[in-house]
Amino acid sequence: MIVICKQHVEVPVPTPKSDEVLLKLEATSINPVDWKIQKGLLRAIFLPRKFPHIPCVDVAGDVVEVGPQVKDFKVGDKVIAKLGLVYGSGLAEFAVASESLTAVRPPEVSAAEAAGLPVAGLTARDALTQIAGVKLDGSGQQKNILVTAASGGVGHYAVQLAKLGNTHVTATCGARNIEFVKGLGADEVLDYKTPEGAVLKSPSGKKYDAVIHCTTGIPWSTFSPNLTENGKVIDLTPGPSSFWSFAVKKLTFSKKQLVPFILTVKREGLEYMVQLVKEGKIKTVIDSRFPLSRAEDAWAKSIDGHATGKISGDIISGCLLFQSFCVSMYGTRYI
Ligand SMILES: NC(=O)c1ccc[n+]([C@@H]2O[C@H](COP(=O)([O-])OP(=O)(O)OC[C@H]3O[C@@H](n4cnc5c(N)ncnc54)[C@H](OP(=O)(O)O)[C@@H]3O)[C@@H](O)[C@H]2O)c1
Repeated sequence: MIVICKQHVEVPVPTPKSDEVLLKLEATSINPVDWKIQKGLLRAIFLPRKFPHIPCVDVAGDVVEVGPQVKDFKVGDKVIAKLGLVYGSGLAEFAVASESLTAVRPPEVSAAEAAGLPVAGLTARDALTQIAGVKLDGSGQQKNILVTAASGGVGHYAVQLAKLGNTHVTATCGARNIEFVKGLGADEVLDYKTPEGAVLKSPSGKKYDAVIHCTTGIPWSTFSPNLTENGKVIDLTPGPSSFWSFAVKKLTFSKKQLVPFILTVKREGLEYMVQLVKEGKIKTVIDSRFPLSRAEDAWAKSIDGHATGKISGDIISGCLLFQSFCVSMYGTRYI
């Protein structure tokens, strides 16, 4: 049995290895994978090796020290980075990042906007481009895409990117976020709590070439009648049954496929996403912001799974972000 406790702890500022940079963090975003690691849900794949484990991997900050072999960054550079999942460390004032998973953040992109991008943004991009075959410059054949949970961290980037790729986008979200998701560019939006939403039926009768599946609990029998002959469901939360279905569909030469997806981040992807934000082609929409001293509140909000809501009267959704301005550090200790 794993007993989990969360607490703010003081730990030494980490020392960068030869190919790493030390960052003074300005913003960190939470992804569901962060608390899935804490809960032990992914222990077969990711088990923290060092305790206290400081969670979160998507960060933006200033380079304050570079390892001797670092070539592309210098002290004072403003950057974003994707930290290693096993070591995390984003919910802290300082973190070390591999040079190969760090990219320059231009001044036009705020730290908070940038910190939302690595895992959520690149998952959306890579699922669309590598598996759904969407060309984000709009040069490809027009496809019909369904994005489930389009109001969430991945979904809100997926809708925007899919529109850059000149696709027709159907999206699902809760009733309170319908206008928000339309505002991101979705052509038609289904409330997932209505009968039409539950069966994922496109209001215009379109069949989907690909589904960017950002939620869970929807059976294949619901997807299948809504797919084109070669339609794919890209499962972003694949469990054993997803891998089993993938294998069975391959073995039976099924044209419709369920494709389990696991993100691999490279610096090129970070640079690409930051550039899109800089050019105003996509945006990071921030649900809520917390100081590091209230990390546990943001953590609970992410676990709650409803990262949407009203701030200053606007309905906005996206990533939970921390501003690292407090002196205390946040750690998760597995006992
Ligand atoms: N495979 C990978 O490499 C990878 C990478 C990134 C993320 N993921 C996974 O992708 C999933 C989504 O991540 P995320 O960051 O987008 O999560 P998230 O931001 O926490 O998603 C929250 C959103 O999902 C909506 N939602 C919940 N259930 C829904 C349903 N049945 N239908 C439609 N919308 C629903 C919520 O809307 P309401 O508030 O209205 O309910 C909320 O806006 C997670 O399971 C995550 O672990 C996987």
